[in-house]
Amino acid sequence: MPGKLSFTLAVLVALEATTLASALPQSPKRRFNSGTRAVSLVRHPRTLKSAEEWGTWAYAHRRRMQAKYGGPVEGKGELGRRSSGTNMMVNQGGDSSYYGTMSLGTPGTSFNVILDTGSSDLWVADSNCQAGCTSISTFQSSSSSTFQNLSTPFQITYGSGQAQGTLARDVVQMAGFAVPNQVFATCDLVSSGLLQNPVSGLMGLAFSTIASSGAVPFWQTLASGGAWDSPVMGFYLTRFNNVTNAQKLEPGGSFDMGFTNTSLYQGDIDYVALPTKATYWILPLNSLSVNDSSISIPSGSSSYAAIDTGTTLVGGPKSVIAHLFGQIPGSQPGTGNFEGYYTYPCNTPVIVRLGFGNSSQTWPISSDDFKLSELDQGQCLGAFFELSGGGSAPPWIIGDTFLKNVYSVFRYDPPSVGFANLSSTAISMNGVTGPVPSSTQGSTVATVSATGAPTTLSGDATSSTFGMMGAMTVVTTSLMAAMVGMLM
Ligand SMILES: *[C@@H]1O[C@H](CO)[C@@H](O)[C@H](O)[C@H]1NC(C)=O
Ligand SMILES: *[C@@H]1O[C@H](CO)[C@@H](O)[C@H](O)[C@H]1NC(C)=O
Ligand SMILES: *[C@@H]1O[C@H](CO)[C@@H](O)[C@H](O)[C@H]1NC(C)=O
Ligand SMILES: *[C@@H]1O[C@H](CO)[C@@H](O)[C@H](O)[C@H]1NC(C)=O
Ligand SMILES: *[C@@H]1O[C@H](CO)[C@@H](O)[C@H](O)[C@H]1NC(C)=O
Ligand SMILES: *[C@@H]1O[C@H](CO)[C@@H](O)[C@H](O)[C@H]1NC(C)=O
Repeated sequence: MPGKLSFTLAVLVALEATTLASALPQSPKRRFNSGTRAVSLVRHPRTLKSAEEWGTWAYAHRRRMQAKYGGPVEGKGELGRRSSGTNMMVNQGGDSSYYGTMSLGTPGTSFNVILDTGSSDLWVADSNCQAGCTSISTFQSSSSSTFQNLSTPFQITYGSGQAQGTLARDVVQMAGFAVPNQVFATCDLVSSGLLQNPVSGLMGLAFSTIASSGAVPFWQTLASGGAWDSPVMGFYLTRFNNVTNAQKLEPGGSFDMGFTNTSLYQGDIDYVALPTKATYWILPLNSLSVNDSSISIPSGSSSYAAIDTGTTLVGGPKSVIAHLFGQIPGSQPGTGNFEGYYTYPCNTPVIVRLGFGNSSQTWPISSDDFKLSELDQGQCLGAFFELSGGGSAPPWIIGDTFLKNVYSVFRYDPPSVGFANLSSTAISMNGVTGPVPSSTQGSTVATVSATGAPTTLSGDATSSTFGMMGAMTVVTTSLMAAMVGMLM
């Protein structure tokens, strides 16, 4: 779509309050009803990017890396009725991002949010939004009878993209679960390109220890409060990046809360314990191979990998990425916008396998996922890129490029991440274009109150306990949003 190139470039420019444009009138909200209700979504063909557009995207993608640190705040919920639920996701922009639907306020209004295991804050664009919310559905706090403005400033920075606003408290519901007093942020300054219609915000699914708001995330309140049959979140992410007629919105797979769906995987779930205190969902990456030829990788904390549904690709240390592509005849380091990436001959199938922790299991990545895009002259862009991090940030970020190949399980207790082989049922959903899932809420099966004040973190969320401090390398949703901007 014309115009998206400059749109994405704008993401690279720091947001300045003095240059904010007025928000355009917002589209009407969708309301939840009890039960299921279809929401029609306009489907647009996804246009293929030129090499130049890929270059711009690649450059932006690499720059958009950073982590977020907060202080420890733990919540204890009340025991609710144990249950489980599923949120059917949408695949946006040919595997760029995966979002689900939540309901906010009383009466509940539905919002689409990126489901991001690489961060821990929940935020939505609000109706006072002054920048970055054009044609985005926004939250109108005055229409919720349970809305409480906490008047605490909030800001989160994802590399050069950021969202800024105020902390608030209201009812949040998803997949049949409700937290009546969830702390979240209403944002009115959002970097251009961070949100792509119909997405209005982001739901962080990592631990409260890295929440910039200091709040206990929705999922963690439910898991720690005993609302779930089993303290797990399961993901199956669909693949559309190798389908030329894919639309910008396609069925995205399944986000399972409180259970694992045995129809979506076969065999055992191979769990590996988190090697650190729970912050990100980190696993040690202990083996890496290309076509069964092993690549040596650093061990100890140098092997730490954040398992991140909110990242599109896989990032790792420069020298390892160089060795990886060194195994592929005809590969070349990218230059210019492609610096940090590699290209390789499109007609070379490449099977990369990853292994984690003590497990002897290794997990292959489909050649279709490794091949991000054909640039020109038969050279394709690879989906592994150099992450130049440092400090306490994990040196690896394992995103959707990998996660599309497994059923992944994020287990609260004991803290671990597990992977299982996809079932034939799951695999058969890949690339099958169709209507995107409708917003569903159903009746509430469990309610858990969050405890713990968000302000116990530092008293002032603007003092930025995360952000530029330390060396930050987590690519989360900001980059995906930029990518979606390029793809649409
Ligand atoms: C919350 O209060 C602050 C002032 O403390 C105000 O700037 C902000 O717009 C309010 N947020 C909402 C969503 O009403
Ligand atoms: C996409 O990849 C899957 C395997 O992951 C394959 O079954 C399917 O045929 C591919 N589709 C296209 C259009 O190449
Ligand atoms: C499990 O996945 C299958 C296949 O998508 C689906 O039909 C079924 O409804 C899911 N089960 C639950 C309990 O969500
Ligand atoms: C996954 O599938 C592979 C190939 O069939 C098999 O070798 C492996 O044991 C399976 N893993 C698990 C955990 O079931
Ligand atoms: C990987 O193996 C396939 C099948 O044997 C082969 O066609 C391909 O060239 C190999 N790729 C690399 C990078 O060696
Ligand atoms: C590896 O295995 C050892 C012994 O079985 C166990 O004590 C350790 O916790 C395991 N480490 C991980 C990361 O799973």
